[in-house]
Amino acid sequence: MLKILNIVGARPNFMKIAPIVREMRRRAAEFAPLIVHTGQHYDEAMSDSFFRDLGIPAPDFHLEVGSHSHAVQTAKIMTAFEPVVLQEKPDWVLVVGDVNSTIACALVCAKLGVKVAHVEAGLRSRDRTMPEEINRLLTDAISDLLLTTSEDADENLRQEGVERDKIKFVGNVMIDSLFYNLEKSRTSKARANLGLEAKDYAVLTLHRPSNVDEKDIFGGLLNALIAIAEKLPIIFPVHPRTRGNIEKFGFAARVAESNIRLIEPLGYLDFMNLYSAARLVLTDSGGLQEETTALGIPCLTLRENTERPITIELGTNRLVGTNPEKIKQAAFSILENSEKKAARIPPLWDGHAAERICDALIGEKRKTNSE
Ligand code: UD1
Repeated sequence: MLKILNIVGARPNFMKIAPIVREMRRRAAEFAPLIVHTGQHYDEAMSDSFFRDLGIPAPDFHLEVGSHSHAVQTAKIMTAFEPVVLQEKPDWVLVVGDVNSTIACALVCAKLGVKVAHVEAGLRSRDRTMPEEINRLLTDAISDLLLTTSEDADENLRQEGVERDKIKFVGNVMIDSLFYNLEKSRTSKARANLGLEAKDYAVLTLHRPSNVDEKDIFGGLLNALIAIAEKLPIIFPVHPRTRGNIEKFGFAARVAESNIRLIEPLGYLDFMNLYSAARLVLTDSGGLQEETTALGIPCLTLRENTERPITIELGTNRLVGTNPEKIKQAAFSILENSEKKAARIPPLWDGHAAERICDALIGEKRKTNSE
C-alpha cells in the first residue's frame, strides 16, 4: 500500500489532481491517498467551486497560507507543510504543475528525504522572468519521478542531464478531467445565461504578471482586444489580479464602452460550457492552450513564448505575442476563415493519464522492492 500526499494550492492544480485521486481511491488496495490544500487560492470562485465541480474529496489538511509576496508565500507553505510530512510519513508526495505550492512542497520533501513525483514535468518556456519557469526548473531538479505530458518535455529533461529511468511519459492528466466532464459541462447554463449562441463569441483570459502588471503592455493588449471585439464579442472572466489592475490603470471606462464583457471568474464546469462553444479563445493561460487543442478550438496565445509547444506543433494554438497589430491580424484571419489550421490531439491526451501515473508509482515500488 502506497501512502501518497497529493498537493493542491492554486486554481490550475485542481483539475490535475482530481482524476489522480479518483484513480487512487478506485485502486484502494494499492493506494492510500490524502489531499493537502496549501490555501494559495482561497476564494469560493478560485478554489471551493472546483472541489465541488470536480468531485474532489475535502482536503485532509488545509494549510491556509493565502496571498503574499512570492518569498513569503513559498516560505509559509514550507513551514506549514513540514510538520504534515513529519507526522504522516508518506511513501510519496505528488505535486502538479508549476505554481508556488508545487516548488514549496517539493523542496520540503527533498530536505526530509521523502520522495516526490512531479506531474507535468519537463515543460520549459525558457523565460526565466516567468515565476512558473523557476518553479518548473527547481521542482524537476529535486523530484524523484518526472511524469510528462509530451515527448518534448522528456527531451528537455534529458538535455538537463536527468537520468532516463526517472522520466515517464504518461500523457496529460488535465485532459482526463476535460473528457470526464465534457458531457456534464453541457448541462451548465453559463453560456445560455449570458445570452450567447454557440460560435458567436470569443473567450478571453488574461492574468500573467508580464501582461497585466505593466500599464503600457496591458493597455496595448486592450486596444487590440477592443478592435477584435468590434467583429466578435469577447467574454472575459476576470482573474482577481487583472480586475485590480483594470481599476488601478484607469481602464474600466474604456472596457465598459467596448464589446468586451467582463464577468466574474467561472467555476470549472461553467467555464468549460463557455469556452467549448467559443469561435476563438484568446489567452495567456497554460492550461487553456491545452484544453483548446484537445477540443479543436482556435486559440491565440498572447505571450512571446510557451512551455507547451506541442499545442502549436500539433494543436490549434498560435503564439501571437503582445504586439497589438500582430494580435489583430491573427484574430481577423481566423474570423475571416482565411486560415484553418489542421490540428491533431497530441499522443496520450486520451483521458487515461491518471491510470498511467498510478502505474508509474507502483512501478517505482517494484523497483525499490527488487533492489
Ligand atoms: C497563480 C500561479 C499561476 C497560475 C495562476 C492561476 C504562481 C507563481 N502563480 O498566479 O501560475 O496560472 O495562479 O490563477 O504560483 N487572489 C484572490 N483570490 C484568490 C487567490 C488570489 O483574490 O483566491 C488575488 C490576490 O490578490 C493575490 C493575487 O490574486 O495577491 C494573485 O494570486 P497568486 O496566487 O499570488 O498568483 P496568481 O496570479 O493567481
